[in-house]
Amino acid sequence: MSEPWTQIELDLAEQMRGSDIISVRQFESQELRTLLSIVARFEGDSQPLLHGRVLAALFFEPSTRTRLSFESAMARLGGSVIGFADAGISSASKGETLQDTIRIVESYCDLFVIRHPREGAARAAAEATFRPLINGGDGSNQHPTQTLLDLYTIQRRIGRVAGLRIGFLGDLKYGRAAHSLVEATAMLGNELILISPDSLRLPHRRVGELRERGTPYEETPNLAGAIPELDVLYVTRIQRERFVDPLDYERVKNAYQVDRATVDQGREGMIVMHPLPRVNEIHPDVDSSPRAAYFEQAKNGLTVRKALLALLMGAIE
Ligand code: NCD
Repeated sequence: MSEPWTQIELDLAEQMRGSDIISVRQFESQELRTLLSIVARFEGDSQPLLHGRVLAALFFEPSTRTRLSFESAMARLGGSVIGFADAGISSASKGETLQDTIRIVESYCDLFVIRHPREGAARAAAEATFRPLINGGDGSNQHPTQTLLDLYTIQRRIGRVAGLRIGFLGDLKYGRAAHSLVEATAMLGNELILISPDSLRLPHRRVGELRERGTPYEETPNLAGAIPELDVLYVTRIQRERFVDPLDYERVKNAYQVDRATVDQGREGMIVMHPLPRVNEIHPDVDSSPRAAYFEQAKNGLTVRKALLALLMGAIE
C-alpha cells in the first residue's frame, strides 16, 4: 500500500463506507474499475485495519470459497467472525424469520455477509439492519463479490476488463455467478457469447437487458464453434440444486466437458475461468494449462474480500 490513494479512489471509499453490497447493478462501470484498483492495494500482507471488529457470516446454503475467504480476510485484517455455515444448526430451523435473525445478530456484529437460497433475500436482510451487509449469493440471482474477483482476475491476466469477447458456458439459467458477471461485463463494454443447452439459456429478462443496453451478444449451444473467437471462456456448473425436476438435470448434466483438447482450440491468450466448485465440466487435464485461471480466481477472492470489508467498515489507510 505504497502509492497514495487517488481522489477517485477516496471518493468511492467514502461512498462505500457503511453501505451494502447487494448487486453489481449498484455500481457504474467507472466505479467497478476504481474498485479493482483499490483491491490491488490489498495484495499481500495487511495491517490490522479491522482490529476489534466482528463479521457475522450467515450461510443458509453450502459454501467453501465464499465463506472461508471472508473468514480469512477478516482474520487477516485483525477482526473476528461469528456465524454459521449450516442453517440447520441455527434458529432458522425452528422457524425464525430471516429478518428476526438479522435483528438479533446485529447487536453481536459490525457487518454481515449472508448467503441464502431465496432470490432477494440479501436485500430483505439489508433492509432489516442498519449494519453494512454483503450478499454472498441469493438463489439464482446475484453473487456480486464473485463478480468482483472474476473481474479482478481478468484484469490481472489480460490487462483490461473491456473490449473482450467473453464466452459464458453451461448453466446460464440458474447460475448466479454467471448472472452477475454477464451484467458487469456488459456494463463495462464487452461482447458476450452465451453458450448453453437450450433448456439452460440465459433468462429472457436478462437477454432483454443486453439488447436494451446495445451489448453485442450471441446465443449458441455450440462450444466448438465459439471457442476460437474467445478471450475468456467462463465455465459454470450445472446448478443441480435449483432444478425443479431431477430428470431435467439428468438430461443436461453432461452437456459440456471442457478438456485440454477443447481449450487448445482457443486463440493465444484465451483464459479459462470457473467460479468453482466444478463437477465434471472442466477436466483436471486443463489444470496444468497456462490458460487455467480458476484457482487464481479463488485466491484473488481473499484480496477482493479484504478490500470490501475494509471499505464498508471505513477502515482504509
Ligand atoms: C458459486 C455459487 O455459489 O454461486 N460458487 C462460488 O461462490 N464460488 C458457483 C456454483 O456454486 O456453481
